Formats: sequence, structure tokens, C-alpha cells
Amino acid sequence: MSMDDLKRQAAARALEQVQDGMKLGLGTGSTAKHFVELLGERVRTGLKIIGVPTSEATRADAERCAVPLTTLDQIDRLDLTVDGADEVDPNLNLIKGGGGALLREKIVAAASDRMIVIADETKWVQTLGRFPLPIEVIPFGLGATRRAIEAAFSKNSVSGQMDIRKAKDGHAFVTDGGHWIVDARLGQIPDSPGLAAALSSIPGVVEHGLFIGLASMAVLAGSQGIRVVERP
Ligand code: A5P
Repeated sequence: MSMDDLKRQAAARALEQVQDGMKLGLGTGSTAKHFVELLGERVRTGLKIIGVPTSEATRADAERCAVPLTTLDQIDRLDLTVDGADEVDPNLNLIKGGGGALLREKIVAAASDRMIVIADETKWVQTLGRFPLPIEVIPFGLGATRRAIEAAFSKNSVSGQMDIRKAKDGHAFVTDGGHWIVDARLGQIPDSPGLAAALSSIPGVVEHGLFIGLASMAVLAGSQGIRVVERP
């Protein structure tokens, strides 16, 4: 079974949690894209839901699949967000942002009563950090912001190379919000809640890819089948 098949299986299992009338957060990335497509099939056969996309890419996918959309200005709370992740640990803390949508993803997840993470088993780790941590930054004063990030790393006993993410054309990758992303290769993050809090307090950091205490369930698809993990 291909990796893509596993992602679709995880998305299909999460779809079982969707009920008529729900307001849904729609994640970003290749796994979330399967969820949007499967959701579109259910909408075509009568399911009544409304979604808030976490990126312009997901907005386009949802429109293509005729999934009705709204915004967090028009509605108050969401019942459920279904999104992918780059890493998931046993506390269901996550690294997200490999696709660059971390800011909208976190806003949407925080506005949701529940968040289900869908992923293939390779995303499961004992300790976050193998995947480079995306940190969304304001280009202005980036040197000062980088030094503040390094100080936060040092206080939290982590270190590693930081690279400004590049787009295919070689220029800096620009997020949907008009910001840049610094990817930090930390290897291991022993205290992810501590590092998350430290990064959040830096003025030039718009958001970071540590999602702490937001996911309530992970649906992980592997060659042996699907594993569902609930937050301890
Ligand atoms: C998007 O910014 C990310 O947070 C994605 O959710 C994450 O990178 C997972 O993407 P895939 O499902 O494509 O692996």
C-alpha cells in the first residue's frame, strides 16, 4: 500500500467523526487534501456541513470539491478540525507547518472544540524535533528576531541550524499571511511546551509550529492498519 493510500485511509477514518450540521476546520497538506476530497463526496450525497479552510490551497481544494465555506468572522466556534501533522508525540503535541500554513492552522485549531490529526505512522515520534521546526517570522528586524530565537533555544537546552525557507524560485517562501518561515533543525525538543511558550513571547515571531495541547485524537495509518490515539 502506498503512502498516499495510508493518508487517504486516515482521512476516511476521521470522516466517520463528522456529523450533519457540524462546523469544520479544514487542514492543509497532502493528508488533509484527502479529507477535503472525501468530505466533498459526502456533501454531494447530502451531508450538511460548513468549513473554514486553513490556507488558500485548501480553500481552492474545497471549492473544487463543492464544500461550503465560511470564515471565523461569520461563525463563532468550530466543532471539529481535521488536519495533518509533520510529527505527533505520545501527548499528541505536534510539529506542524511543513506546508507553511501553521498560522492559520493554529488559529483554526484553537477555535475548535476538537482537533483530529490524520497522518501516516511515520509521523509518530517519541520526542518532537526530528522534523525541522517551522517558525513564522516578520521579515523586519530578522537579525534581532533570530538572536532572540537562539536565546530561547539555549534556555530550553536545544540548538541547531536555522534556515530561511526558500520557494521554488529561490526567493524566500512567503506565507498566506505575508510572512517568512525559519526552519530550525533541532533534532530533539525535550520540553516542547517550554520552548513553545518561549518562542511565543518573541515580538518578531508571528507563530511557531509547536501545537501544544490542541489535538484531542490522532488517526495514524500504517501497513498493519489504523491506530487511533486519544490525548492522555
Ligand atoms: C501544513 O502547513 C502542515 O502543517 C501540514 O499539516 C503538515 O505539513 C502535514 O502535511 P502532509 O499531510 O502533506 O504530510
